Amino acid sequence: MMEIVLTAVWLMLPAYIPNSTAAVFGGGKPIDGGRTLSDGRRILGDGKTYRGLVAGTLCGMLLGLLQTYYLAVNGTIFGVELPSFGELPGGLVVIFTLAFGSLFGDMFMSFFKRRLGLKRGAPLPVIDQLDFVFGAWLLTYIASPVWFTENFTFGVIIAVLIITPLLHFVTNVIGYFIGVKNEPW
Ligand code: CTP
Ligand code: MG
Repeated sequence: MMEIVLTAVWLMLPAYIPNSTAAVFGGGKPIDGGRTLSDGRRILGDGKTYRGLVAGTLCGMLLGLLQTYYLAVNGTIFGVELPSFGELPGGLVVIFTLAFGSLFGDMFMSFFKRRLGLKRGAPLPVIDQLDFVFGAWLLTYIASPVWFTENFTFGVIIAVLIITPLLHFVTNVIGYFIGVKNEPW
């Protein structure tokens, strides 16, 4: 139980961090350049910026590299043996797709939120809590299918799907109270 929870959180850390750091460092030029589609609505909206995308990806990758370093020195946490993102050139690809994929999933769902007529920041339950998980999994599976299937076993996937909405809720409430998020979701 404890082992699978730690494994799930450890593997997902490079995908978790980009969202909160995008909220902290984001702003400036929106990725859609302010453009709208024929439905008259923004392509992505002002909540998806280049600065958030780049800063979030870099922070997720930095954490992944720190985890890789920790593993090289230590190997376990609370007595639980931790999985690695792979030997370094390939491991860097995994770390990148986890970090970038998470913001990609978030961006992808903003596209659909705008098509549904939801304004920036409007809540879309379940999707808001898990879009970044699916983005991270999809890109990582495409780029590193063997690593993905070896590490994201059925049990780990279920653990991630249960833990993530809880963590997401807690971090967003914190983000809201320290003022980096406009809404607590
Ligand atoms: N952010 C950013 N760039 C990104 C993702 C997020 O700058 N690629 C920043 C924005 O300031 C955004 C905040 O992080 O407002 C919170 O992210 P999120 O909740 O995903 O955006 P929302 O403002 O809720 O917009 P949307 O309705 O499109 O999800
Ligand atoms: Mg939001």
